[in-house]
Amino acid sequence: MKEIQHDYKFVLISLILFIFIFYSYEPDFGLLETIGGILSILAGEPINASFPITFYQSAYVDYRFNPPRLRIFTLNKCVKNNQFLLSDLHLNGNNSAPVRKKIYGKPLDGHCPSIYIPASSCLYVPYTFSITLKQNEDPKNVVLYFEMTKVIQYFQVTIFLGSGKVELNVQKIYKKSTEGITVCLQPVYYFSQWQNIVLYIEAWRAQGATRFIVYFHSATKETWKTLEYYRDLGLIEIKSWPSFPSLPADIADKYPKIDDSVFILSYFMAMNICILDIKTTIGTVADFDEVMVPTNGRLLDYATKEMMGTKVGALSFENHYISLTPKIYTSNFSRVASPKFQTFGKQTKYIFNASVLAIAQVHWPHSFVDSYFSWTRTKKVSFFQKLEVFFQMSSFQAEGALLHFRYEPGVGNLETTEKPFRFFPDNPSIHIKNMEDTAQNIFNGVMPKFSSKPYDALQKCVSKIIPVEDKVCRSTSGICRDEMDKVEDWVYDKSEPIFLVAS
Ligand SMILES: *[C@@H]1O[C@H](CO)[C@@H](O)[C@H](O)[C@H]1NC(C)=O
Ligand SMILES: *[C@@H]1O[C@H](CO)[C@@H](O)[C@H](O)[C@H]1NC(C)=O
Ligand SMILES: *[C@@H]1O[C@H](CO)[C@@H](O)[C@H](O)[C@H]1NC(C)=O
Ligand SMILES: *[C@@H]1O[C@H](CO)[C@@H](O)[C@H](O)[C@H]1NC(C)=O
Repeated sequence: MKEIQHDYKFVLISLILFIFIFYSYEPDFGLLETIGGILSILAGEPINASFPITFYQSAYVDYRFNPPRLRIFTLNKCVKNNQFLLSDLHLNGNNSAPVRKKIYGKPLDGHCPSIYIPASSCLYVPYTFSITLKQNEDPKNVVLYFEMTKVIQYFQVTIFLGSGKVELNVQKIYKKSTEGITVCLQPVYYFSQWQNIVLYIEAWRAQGATRFIVYFHSATKETWKTLEYYRDLGLIEIKSWPSFPSLPADIADKYPKIDDSVFILSYFMAMNICILDIKTTIGTVADFDEVMVPTNGRLLDYATKEMMGTKVGALSFENHYISLTPKIYTSNFSRVASPKFQTFGKQTKYIFNASVLAIAQVHWPHSFVDSYFSWTRTKKVSFFQKLEVFFQMSSFQAEGALLHFRYEPGVGNLETTEKPFRFFPDNPSIHIKNMEDTAQNIFNGVMPKFSSKPYDALQKCVSKIIPVEDKVCRSTSGICRDEMDKVEDWVYDKSEPIFLVAS
């Protein structure tokens, strides 16, 4: 008898669970909506205004996915699996009822808190909240779908946070068709090595890059002048990356300031937004001291050949630290023709097919819009070749390399070796002359005197920060501002709010 009762309970609970799951996923059907609404309250927990979260100003309808996906980018405290953003999608402007949706989120780097040790004490982790928009799910929904896509481009997404709300504009993203490489720069904070930018732009252009997207927070006047110069030539698009706003007043004292508690993690957000902004077939995310080159020819040709019509969605390049002596900061660009190679580092970088990369991580792709795609290293190395490399028995020759010209080289083994990789696929002397002329043009023939003070001040400030879980996290932004303002008159981004909090 007892067993029968147990079975009965089991069936009942399953039934309730079934109804409950069914309605919580399909809450927008007329009569059933109310029941669905009640059940969905039990099913999960809406994120409300007491939750520390900041939003990037735009939401994206990403048509690279099939069916299309609405994607929202945020920085927030870790959310539980059953927590969601309660959102209204305004599909028909102000004239018709909006569609209410629950949108669930995932951390962009797959983990919350971050497993990246320097960032593991950061409270705010970059998230993407996304929802698949209906398409051919049910013939009755086709009309809804077309209304949705037609109108979503003009109107907004409103997110309710208990007592607060946030409105995001919506942008549409498609597969990319213009041939070329777009290079995404992670946010520029307190940057002073303008010489890097000159080498970077010249080398990447020689490799086939056609557009650069730079997220800008702060830099020296010389660096800003350099960025402006290339912006005016139509090469660089400078996008605002201002300081993060304060949390709403009633919760501000309960949590650390966002701007004091974002490390490299906010970069994940920038680079994933940047991917969507790319208009060329191929994209990459590389710092101002990183250039990817193939052994022969131009990167654009090499990458197109390797990826077009294949399952390969990204190509990864081994990191080679190089030194340029005399330095480009204190001398001229002559040394760039023949860099000295140090042992290679672990941190690879990659270029990708911009039509298929869904989520980027710093050193490898996280996911593609379709699981058909995968990524690969520049050369499939056999097990024995790997062993040889491991024991340094022969020099490793991939079909390409990431040339990493750190301001302070000297990580690991400083012995230098010869490698076949060069910044330029053709005669370097033309490029060296171009760089010298460009520098002269930017500064009207009066070259600024080099000082390492800004760089040293930032290193000193960051190294003094002692991370404490959920309170302090190594951050280049808010925490160092006072220190940094003492050494330099910085150019800061002063744009309208780009990051939004509930109001
Ligand atoms: C807001 O959410 C928190 C948990 O995330 C909950 O404890 C609190 O009661 C909620 N507040 C309101 C007004 O719903
Ligand atoms: C909808 O209403 C808001 C204010 O209520 C207004 O700012 C917006 O322009 C309106 N949009 C359209 C398309 O009419
Ligand atoms: C990128 O992927 C698309 C598939 O969506 C494919 O048609 C295209 O050829 C690929 N482009 C490159 C450069 O690999
Ligand atoms: C570049 O600097 C080196 C030494 O610092 C010098 O020998 C060379 O003449 C310079 N080249 C130009 C083009 O100024």
